[in-house]
This record gives sequence, structure tokens and C-alpha cells, in this order.
Amino acid sequence: MTTPRIDFDLKPSAQPVAATEREAMLADPGFGRHFTDHMVTVKWTEGRGWHDAQLQPYAPLQIDPANMTLHYSQTIFEGLKAYRQPDGSVATFRPDANARRFQRSARRLAMPELPVETFIEACDLLVKTDRDWVPGKDEHSLYLRPFMFATEVGLGVRPANEYLFMVIASPASGYFPRGVKPVSVWLSQEYVRAAPGGMGEAKTGGNYAASLVAQAEAADQGCDQVVWLDALERRYIEEMGGMNLYLVRNSGGTTTIVTPKLTGTLLPGITRDSLLTIAEDLGYGTEEARISTDEWQAGNADGSITEVFACGTAAVITPVGHVKSARAEWTVGDGRPGPVTTRLREALLSVQTGQSPDPHAWMHRL
Ligand code: PLP
Ligand code: COI
Repeated sequence: MTTPRIDFDLKPSAQPVAATEREAMLADPGFGRHFTDHMVTVKWTEGRGWHDAQLQPYAPLQIDPANMTLHYSQTIFEGLKAYRQPDGSVATFRPDANARRFQRSARRLAMPELPVETFIEACDLLVKTDRDWVPGKDEHSLYLRPFMFATEVGLGVRPANEYLFMVIASPASGYFPRGVKPVSVWLSQEYVRAAPGGMGEAKTGGNYAASLVAQAEAADQGCDQVVWLDALERRYIEEMGGMNLYLVRNSGGTTTIVTPKLTGTLLPGITRDSLLTIAEDLGYGTEEARISTDEWQAGNADGSITEVFACGTAAVITPVGHVKSARAEWTVGDGRPGPVTTRLREALLSVQTGQSPDPHAWMHRL
């Protein structure tokens, strides 16, 4: 079945940010600090479906105090990046995968599913309109944030009958202020991110709200990030703050990258998935497994686990250098970015920035 195309009403901004100001922002964008000139909005109403698709000037929204999202958090989001290519064109990385995950998140939150085509079309339209905001240097990119939330007004607890889908965009350099320097992690025993049957594999605001107190605990312990363990036994590694995790295992001359398997309580990352393929292309073994913190510590001590890194859209690949828990503390390898981490990072980024071929057709050219 083909999805009917939605026509977007185009309302260009009468007051775009001046070129000099934009260039100043692009020189050192950071993460999520500046926003482009436009945004996309598409409404959904019970009985009518998706309608009123618009590209319009970026502007604040007016929200009724009884907006259901403010009270019951029926909201989901995505994150993907547009990269400047060597010929000056722009391409996004695997937008179809984000679109499908957005549909899965919608199902979990009892929200309407946006057609994959409309998700991609909305992202394309925003990037094309605000293409001057796509940075052209280093690993910088334009981070796209599609999201959807309930717009119905009322305090009854039930799925809303009105929603707004939006896409905003923000130029991005590194997610972590210290760049690719290894991060230190705190293994959270007290707090869990998600339990079986919960919302762990959905990209919904509540999961991030739940993480903040544990992230604060990690900071109190002198660590950069929190690592989540499984809710039932508090033994198995799940993921890090806003990123998935990989361990690099060397045994008998074979290098294998191992990542926690998708149990339903962690986010199925698109970077995680892409690395399973890239690693195979580079001749590494791959494995999805349950990994306990004891195994990690023992493998680190006997030299079989040589590197650990985190991966995600915002922060790409970030080495993990030091681990701390209530019971133990250890340095991963020699605490510096390892060769496998560095090689995978370069391989992924060179596909994204168009420096190397794209054998899996992941780049979506605009
Ligand atoms: N885990 C969490 C909790 C995240 O927020 C993210 C970021 O999106 C990831 C993992 C990595 O997912 P992706 O590679 O699709 O960005
Ligand atoms: C991403 O990597 O896109 C994320 O969503 C992580 C974080 C900024 C929430």
C-alpha cells in the first residue's frame, strides 16, 4: 500500500538569522544550543489523521496549562544527523531507521504512527530549507530532532485525541565538551533506567527524566556518565546515559566487539546497529550478549577486554576510560582511546561525511 503524500504548506521566515551571526554560531556550535530558521509541524487528529503539514519560521509554541503532555508525558523523539558531503551537497544518515524506531516508540506510547515517508520528507524539507546551517568542517553536522507530543487539553488519563509532530534542527560539534577524550562511568546500583515491560526501548522523554538523578549521582562520584544495569539482578550492563555500549574482546588473535543484547529494556541504537555491520566489514567478529559487570572487571584484569566505547548519534563513538561502582574501580586498558575504537570511529564518520564509499546505502542524499 502506498501512503498518500502529504503536501507541506511553505511559510519561509521573514527574519532569518543574519549570515554573520549564523557563521559565528557554526564556528563553535556545541550541542543543542542554537536552532535554525525554520521548523516543521504536522498535526494529527482522531478521525482525520495527519493534516496541516507546514514548514514555518522557528518560534515558541503556545501551550494550554492542561495540555496532556505536561501532565502525563505522552511524548517521543528521535535524533539523526545531516552531514555536508565533499561536493557541497548534504546527506542524512539512515533516516528510514529513525522513522521506523519512531513508529515503534509511538506504538509503545499509544500514539499514532507517522508514515516513514512523511518522517523522511519532513526532515528533508527542513534540511533543504536551512541547508546553510549544515556545518562544513571536521565532524560537525546538523542534528535533527523530530518529536511528537499530545496536544489535547484535559486531565483524564488516556491516549490523547490530538498530537503534534515537529522537526527542529541544531548545528552540532561534539556532544561532550572534552571531545573524544575517554569518559569515566559510574555503574548505577540504586537507580535503574528501565524494567522489563517498561518503556526502555522507546525513545520517550520519561526515560531521560528518570536518568537525571542517577547522572547527578555519577557526577557526585566524580564520573562523567552513568551506566545502567538490568533492573532485576543489577548485574548485567545495559547502556550508558544516551548511548549504547561496546566491549572489545581479544582472544586467540581474534578481535570481537561485544554489545549488550536487546532485551527490551535498552534503546536499539542505530549507531549500535551500524557498527555491527561496519565491524564485520573491517574483519572483526561481532556478538550481542548479556555481559555482567563481574565479567567486565575480570576481562579487564586478565587483558581479554582491551577497550570499551559508547556509541550514539549525538556523541558518535566515545571511549570509556575508567569505571567505578560502589564495590570496585578500574581503568579500561591504559585509559586511552584504543585502536579498535579509533578505527571504528573513523570508518563510521568517513561514511557519514562522504569521505569513503557507502556500501550499505545508508546515506540519504538531498
Ligand atoms: N541509548 C539511549 C538511551 C539514547 O538516548 C541513544 C541516543 O539516541 C542511544 C542509546 C543511541 O542511539 P542512536 O545510535 O540511534 O543515536
Ligand atoms: C542522540 O544521540 O540522538 C540522543 O538522543 C542522545 C541524547 C542527546 C538524548
